[in-house]
Amino acid sequence: MGNYVTMSLETHLFFGRIMKEHALFLYAGFPCGETKCRQQADFFREEFEDGLRRAVQLSNGIVSSGVLSSGEIVTEFTLKAERQTEKLSGISIDSEITKAEKQLRAGNQMRFSRGIMMNVRMLNRRMLQLINGLIEFKEQILREIADCRLYTTNYPLLIEHILREARLYRATILELERRGGIVPKDFREMEQFWNQIMMEHALFIRGLLDPTECELIETADGFAKDYCRLLEEAKEQDLRTMDELTRKTIETTQEYQKFKTAGTEGITDCKIRSIILPLLADHVLREANHYLRILADHGIGRD
Ligand SMILES: [Fe+2]
Ligand SMILES: [Fe+2]
Repeated sequence: MGNYVTMSLETHLFFGRIMKEHALFLYAGFPCGETKCRQQADFFREEFEDGLRRAVQLSNGIVSSGVLSSGEIVTEFTLKAERQTEKLSGISIDSEITKAEKQLRAGNQMRFSRGIMMNVRMLNRRMLQLINGLIEFKEQILREIADCRLYTTNYPLLIEHILREARLYRATILELERRGGIVPKDFREMEQFWNQIMMEHALFIRGLLDPTECELIETADGFAKDYCRLLEEAKEQDLRTMDELTRKTIETTQEYQKFKTAGTEGITDCKIRSIILPLLADHVLREANHYLRILADHGIGRD
């Protein structure tokens, strides 16, 4: 059951933080008058923050060094991005969690006490309830935007995008609860999922940069086209050429990761004109780091 404990905690460390930040982005995007939506977003932000805090407490000496060093949990910019976002948006962020995450030690235990198993099971159940609630909330926002009953500064595609990420989180935890581990997924499906996520990040970045940032807009647009091509090519390829496609995916994502790193640095250093919250820049960087770690773990595309 080692897999169950480790995988559950690693999943919460990545996705729990992602969800709490989605709730923050949603909150920040609503007009002041949307009191009910703001309250709901704030509720999920606080609850996921609580859940993440608990996951961090349970993770020390348990999670793998690969995950801790991947930059998917925190990056060198996270703390600064949180402080700036808190100041700019007025939304409180518990940075003690980030500091604790930076201190986490890895472990490679395969056997765990009954106590830790019970604690992880309780955390999984609590997080599942929250994810279900957040998914419902995101679906409701999407419906109201489509009916022009709700205004938000977040693109409809961004809501669809964060909805898909929440569904993946739910599917992962459900599988851990039902089977006690994770059966390796269809690699192609996973690759398509994350290539689409990466493409959409490029589209969001392009649309949130100041119109005068021509060079960055062009680079972002280039990445959106690269991922779009990868998605198209995957539909036409047979299995023999798929490995070649994965190699291209890895190359593109490594380049993209550098672009996102430079972007996050530029935004947190106030060197880029945009309407991107510093924490959003760091958020999409972490998602690229997560994807690169999965690609590396899978081993496909490596020489
Ligand atoms: Fe996200
Ligand atoms: Fe994303």
